[in-house]
Amino acid sequence: MAVSTDEKREVRVAESSYDIAKIRSDFPILQMERAGKPLVYLDNAATAQTPNAVIDALTRYYTCENANVHRGVHYLSQTATTRYEDARKKIANFFHAPVGCEIIFTRGATEAINLVASSYGEAHVGEGDEIIISHLEHHSNIVPWQILCERKGAKLRVIPINDAGEMILEEYEAMLSPRTKIVAVNHVSNALGTINPVETIIELAHAQGVPVLLDGAQAAPHMPVDLKALNCDFYAFSAHKVYGPTGIGCLYGNAKLLNAMPPYQSGGDMIMSVSFEKTTYNSLPYRFEAGTPNIADAIAFGAALDYLSAIGMAEIAAYEQELLAYGTEALQEVKGLELIGTAKHKAGVLSFVMEHAHPHDIGQLLDDENIAIRAGHHCAQPVMQRYGVPATARASLGMYNTREEIDAMVEALHKVNKVFA
Ligand code: ALA
Repeated sequence: MAVSTDEKREVRVAESSYDIAKIRSDFPILQMERAGKPLVYLDNAATAQTPNAVIDALTRYYTCENANVHRGVHYLSQTATTRYEDARKKIANFFHAPVGCEIIFTRGATEAINLVASSYGEAHVGEGDEIIISHLEHHSNIVPWQILCERKGAKLRVIPINDAGEMILEEYEAMLSPRTKIVAVNHVSNALGTINPVETIIELAHAQGVPVLLDGAQAAPHMPVDLKALNCDFYAFSAHKVYGPTGIGCLYGNAKLLNAMPPYQSGGDMIMSVSFEKTTYNSLPYRFEAGTPNIADAIAFGAALDYLSAIGMAEIAAYEQELLAYGTEALQEVKGLELIGTAKHKAGVLSFVMEHAHPHDIGQLLDDENIAIRAGHHCAQPVMQRYGVPATARASLGMYNTREEIDAMVEALHKVNKVFA
């Protein structure tokens, strides 16, 4: 992302009030060394590390609060229920969810998208209908729609991207038609870091009465997300990308749409009454939370959001933008390195290929230096196909990364050239 002089000055101010040493000390794993080399963790798009606040919330829950929710009159069950429902409120507040919308706990963004594809798709998508996604999608926002299309005889339409990795909006606009039943795109690309123009995408879809689902898994850790302002119909996200635990995430959804959708999974807690003749379903959000939920991780998810709120998402965004600009410039020094994904608006992802080394070899050599990046297709094979590469090496930034860590990566990439070039 191009940064003006004024913006740079503002960023420096933000950086100076950003206590990076304190933040790093909150993450025990960052203190680890391997063979005398400090851990440089640059794989945050895959999963982010966990602060003490989250680890402590998990320990506290299992030490003195563990019980099933919505089921018991005893003290522990009441406590667990309160804490679980408090976490839901924290999530709604953190993402500025408007009144009349719901937060449904899922296993993660993937399950949230599957829920909508399966349930909204069942109710609203038929033969000859169309679903619009983009060329930038993670497999989790491609395959559920493909399966739905196969089931219903519907058609998947794909918004193309330009060489920088930005969606071509004119093509999107031309694709919208009375046949379009839903638009599902990511807010930020996991493979390239592109911040997509979701406001325009939503506006154009809504002008035609088409609902929009955003995969927010990669946006939530990097910027303030205001769901009221965005006005999307569904938003999917995962806790582990925002420094929370794995195995928990959410679907945010418009209650009117959710109320008109059939159940996704069935069992305990999602029912109002059951007899062999007829079952009636619970109200939202419980109607979409069958079975004992992931109580501990939901509570710890809330703790992760408390932690982020105390630092400030705007501050984190400013800090990471500065680091991204620094990293983008630093990578230019490496001979034979080509950045894949050069969109004007990007979150902290540096995806690249090198002339003389395969991404997996880059990943392996960096690991020898205790530098963790991801090498592969990043669960976004169509993005790789668009650029004609089998894989990329990807450094993805988090709130605790530093310029020194970028320097360490660049030094290691020079070594890669020495070995392979
Ligand atoms: N979606 C995760 C990534 O981008 C796993 O690495």
